[in-house]
Amino acid sequence: MTIPLGTAHLSPERVKGASEEPSTAARSQTFVEEALRWLPGDAGDALLDAGAAREVPHDDAAQSMQADRRRVLLADDNADLRDYIGRLLADHGYEVETVADGEAALAALRAQRPDILVTDVMMPRLDGFGLLAAVRQDASLRDMPVVMLSARAGDDAKVEGLDAGADDYLTKPFSARELLARVAANVAMARLRREAAEAVRASEAKLRELNQQLESRVQLAIEQREQAEEALRQSQKMEAVGQLTGGIAHDFNNLLMGISGSLQLLETRIEQGRLDAVPRYIDAAQGATKRAAALTQRLLAFSRRQTLDPKPTNLNRLITDMEELVRRTTGPTIAVEVVGAVGLWPVLIDQNQLENALLNLCINARDAMPDGGRLTIETANRWLDGNTGTERDLPPGQYVSLCVTDTGSGMSKETIGRIFEPFFTTKPLGQGTGLGLSMIYGFVRQSNGQIRVYSELGQGTTMCLYLPRHHGEATDGETVETGADGFEAGYGETVLIVDDEPAVRLLMLDVLQEAGYRVLEAADGPGGLKILQSEARIDLLVTDVGLPGGMNGRQVADAARTLRPNLKVLFITGYAENAVVGNGHLDPGMQVITKPFAIDALANRVREMIDA
Ligand SMILES: Nc1ncnc2c1ncn2[C@@H]1O[C@H](COP(=O)(O)OP(=O)(O)OP(=O)(O)O)[C@@H](O)[C@H]1O
Ligand SMILES: [Mg+2]
Repeated sequence: MTIPLGTAHLSPERVKGASEEPSTAARSQTFVEEALRWLPGDAGDALLDAGAAREVPHDDAAQSMQADRRRVLLADDNADLRDYIGRLLADHGYEVETVADGEAALAALRAQRPDILVTDVMMPRLDGFGLLAAVRQDASLRDMPVVMLSARAGDDAKVEGLDAGADDYLTKPFSARELLARVAANVAMARLRREAAEAVRASEAKLRELNQQLESRVQLAIEQREQAEEALRQSQKMEAVGQLTGGIAHDFNNLLMGISGSLQLLETRIEQGRLDAVPRYIDAAQGATKRAAALTQRLLAFSRRQTLDPKPTNLNRLITDMEELVRRTTGPTIAVEVVGAVGLWPVLIDQNQLENALLNLCINARDAMPDGGRLTIETANRWLDGNTGTERDLPPGQYVSLCVTDTGSGMSKETIGRIFEPFFTTKPLGQGTGLGLSMIYGFVRQSNGQIRVYSELGQGTTMCLYLPRHHGEATDGETVETGADGFEAGYGETVLIVDDEPAVRLLMLDVLQEAGYRVLEAADGPGGLKILQSEARIDLLVTDVGLPGGMNGRQVADAARTLRPNLKVLFITGYAENAVVGNGHLDPGMQVITKPFAIDALANRVREMIDA
């Protein structure tokens, strides 16, 4: 085997290329040049001029730097090196500030932030690593590029410097070219980093803005939807109110017709001297009046403004008392079953109204079972926790339920949605007023309870009343008996009547005088007080609650009691004034009677109060 010598066998390019490899001598030349440059003064300069520095290209980057001069802070305790590097950088377009130790460097950095810090490692007071640590801890300097210069050669030193957070690490001696290239590169890198960070910040801000726009659009959409829903609710409410007022107007016109027609005929018959017909028309007028009173009573019940007289009540006993009436009302085709829970808690309820409500539910059940069926009345103790309470729109706690179940026609969803509306009925004209359930609803709500309906078409219906448990003993449902046979006689006692309605005043005056009382009267509060201030004997004050003249009945009564501390007071109320007289929570010696009242009921109440 022969190994060819010389170059004859090689291609010309390869021969040329090989001869251009830098020699070891050429590389060591760089260090010599560097060392010479570190010589002080002109000697170095002269050598520098003739040496490698001239070869450092003034490239584009350097030139553009010249335009917006980059600032360099140079920290080195060696004055020669400081001067040299300073001049080198200045020559290449940098604005240079030099300091001799770490602490001075830190102060200079904080006074004015440069674009780059070039620092020696070994320095007095604060060395390069200390300075670097301080820079990285300072929020306003943290992202500044730092190039470290050290005489400690070797990879370990370099790794240590970079580990400490330096951006670059140069080992002395280094070439001017390398230093310039690294400074330029690090400044450019920092600038790119800053621009990138700004771009991220800008896009984050943009994203935030978009998010906010989206949120406000969603918000707007929600508001619009809420407005639409509110408008719908409002129109449904108006429809219900329209139905209510229309229903009232219709019923009242009928009743007024009955009353005014009777009065007109009465007048005619009296003129004609046909007195035998008189009682018939009086009966007709009274009948219409009673129906009108019943109607307003139901309306007030629905509006939860009736005057209630709640008493501790055992529902089982109340139902037992009514069972016979229910059986008679529902007829023989319907089997009535009563299931009373053992140990049923008492409730605080107006017993008359509850009897009314139960009867109404049973009549509805009967009407739903024209061909007969089974009607069940059931009571139970109930615990409502937060969830079931919320579902039933009741505060959690203990309740007593009273449910009436039938096996009748049941109801559609649409019907269920409307049954509590006043005047809503599916019954033929003249058979239902549509006030039964609305009245029960109002009454139960006013009694802090709830009514619930469970119904399925063709299966039947359960209506349940929930009433809050009463902590205390039930009393017997003894209500005050109104003497049916005539007025109770008075014994010369004096009653003061305060009422602004002349017709009502006249009526009461007649009744009470006939019953044997002395009667004084006033048309408003101040008029009444004048009489109360006099020496006149007064056994009872009967006052309307709604009064003109700046004082309501309650205020008249309070003023009267400061003059006559034990004076008995009977309030007369329509409906809205219940709150004025404490919603039934009255001081001893005070009572309420609700308009319209039966004449004999007034006389009896007056007797009762005066005797008490
Ligand atoms: N148990 C029931 N089964 C089926 N439908 C019922 C039942 N209870 C009530 N309803 C329906 O609810 C409607 C309203 O009942 P509500 O008691 O308020 O009025 P009404 O019975 O029609 O008339 P009113 O009670 O004033 O004489 C009824 O017309 C009926 O359609
Ligand atoms: Mg009914």
